[in-house]
Amino acid sequence: MCGIIARIGGNDGAVDELLTGLENLEYRGYDSAGLAVKNGSGPEVVKREGEISHLKEALADEVPDGGLGIGHTRWSTHGPPTDANAHPHTDCTGDVAIVHNGIIENYDELKSELADRGHEFTSDTDTEVVPHLVEEALDDGDDPETAFRRTIEKLSGSYAVAMITSHDHAVYATRRGSPLVLGVSDGEYFLASDVPAFLDFTDDVVYLDDGDVVVVEPDGHRITSADGERVDRAIRTVDWDPEDAGKGGYDHYMLKEIHEQPAALRQTLRGRADPATGEIHLEDFPPGTFEGVKRVQFVACGTSYHAGLVGAQFLSEGGVPAQAFLASEYATAQPPVDEETLVIGVTQSGETADTLAALRQATASGAPTLAVTNVVGSTAARECDDALFIRAGPEIGVAATKTFSSQVVSLALLGERLVRDVTGTRTDGARERLEALSELPGHVQQILDYTSARRVAAEYRDSDAYFFIGRGSVFPVALEGALKFKEISYEHAEGFAAGELKHGPLALVTPDTPVFAVFTGRNDEKTLGNVKEAEARGAPVVAIARGDADGARQYADDVLTIPDTHPDVAGVLANVQLQLLSYYAADLLDRPIDKPRNLAKSVTVE
Ligand code: F6R
Repeated sequence: MCGIIARIGGNDGAVDELLTGLENLEYRGYDSAGLAVKNGSGPEVVKREGEISHLKEALADEVPDGGLGIGHTRWSTHGPPTDANAHPHTDCTGDVAIVHNGIIENYDELKSELADRGHEFTSDTDTEVVPHLVEEALDDGDDPETAFRRTIEKLSGSYAVAMITSHDHAVYATRRGSPLVLGVSDGEYFLASDVPAFLDFTDDVVYLDDGDVVVVEPDGHRITSADGERVDRAIRTVDWDPEDAGKGGYDHYMLKEIHEQPAALRQTLRGRADPATGEIHLEDFPPGTFEGVKRVQFVACGTSYHAGLVGAQFLSEGGVPAQAFLASEYATAQPPVDEETLVIGVTQSGETADTLAALRQATASGAPTLAVTNVVGSTAARECDDALFIRAGPEIGVAATKTFSSQVVSLALLGERLVRDVTGTRTDGARERLEALSELPGHVQQILDYTSARRVAAEYRDSDAYFFIGRGSVFPVALEGALKFKEISYEHAEGFAAGELKHGPLALVTPDTPVFAVFTGRNDEKTLGNVKEAEARGAPVVAIARGDADGARQYADDVLTIPDTHPDVAGVLANVQLQLLSYYAADLLDRPIDKPRNLAKSVTVE
């Protein structure tokens, strides 16, 4: 997904800091990069297809330094990744330079009008209409701020835009449906799509709202609404340090983030559950918060959807009707929604367009909405009626790992609160479950210390395909195991409900398709029956099971052991083993693990 960075400071230093910002945005996925720097006269633009290293090579002989500039990593939506399509884009005169994230839906119409009036376009992008519209407004005599405002009034779609011009020493920016944050430091300001972009320089952040227009100059910033009214936005200090956003000695962010899970889970749980009394303390959700709720719907995508499936199952078992929907299918599913339906958006980034669209649809139908997210100040957190933060810390690897674990734990706590509020009673075994949750950080650490996932990944590295099965609370874990495996190893992997194997997928099972079967200590006999079906076709079986799961150990060719815990919590542990399996399988194949092809961390288009 595209990333924006802007830097406003003294007379020099912009190029280096913009490049740092661009590198920090790499995790979002990109296929070209560029920047525009002002050093006295007009903005000078350098942009290149491919890696940021290409841009650096070009910069070595093309642009002198300056104090002010904008930069961009592009993930193609209109037109292929080429130098010409890379951002920044300029007008006919080269006086206006723009970077943009999102989609301008009416660009076709705007482009043909501009072309009729004599503007020349040099790219296939939707973005390029923006500098030309600004150019026209400047020609009409507008100052840059008015020209910028008049331009954005003409745009429809979702976007974050930042602009510099040859007319003054300022950056103009706005957002509508795409993220944009302001970083405030001593004598320096930054604008970016995401906080880690400027975390090397400041941790003081202003989260901008949709419609905000911000003008940033070396000596200050001013935020106004779309109507020009002054608005105040608080400066918040984030507790993410640059070390958090770096690889910290691991080969990949993904491995680092897998290893961060004990700490992340401690953060998720901190102060929220008391196993001794069975009490739950969820900061914004005291007892009684959800008394009027009749049903719950989860909307989410990918890994977050798998967490939503776990959440829905937990609630249903506790007596609260609940369903999980793929956010992109929510509009067509048209489930009944009213003011007694709580719609929960599960989204690590809080910026996933499909999830935001589903949440907006729920709001329009009168339902209360709640975001379960990792990013304070994200669009989902701000647009929903309430937010529960999973507190996993920044996740840079494209493949979600620690955030899945923290989502599941957050949903277990939220689920317990919901069940109590809606049914008036605790769930069966609530204290035991809370006890198991509080032990999770230590149990995950045991897995990290003793896993044999690397050996198992090596053992089956030449297989034709990889199947993952589980039932009940670990059916979503089977889906998640397969998603992780395919997305980073590029090998064919599928997840099935264990009982479904015999209804079709068994036709694919051969001695070259290992089956990874997840056992929790509940309904293991049935899953064992499914394992035998696979074994009868010659498939090797790897059980992910507790050390004392005799049945599973007896039939499996290999075992990835999980510590003894409550069956409802075992899935988180099994999933950690599967994360490690995927990681090592991809590493053996030398895949670009943190940035799998064709994927982006934050998917901000529907
Ligand atoms: C897979 C993965 C994606 C995301 C999905 C939703 O490893 O990371 O499937 O889970 O794109 O993203 P969020 O949670 O940010 O809404």
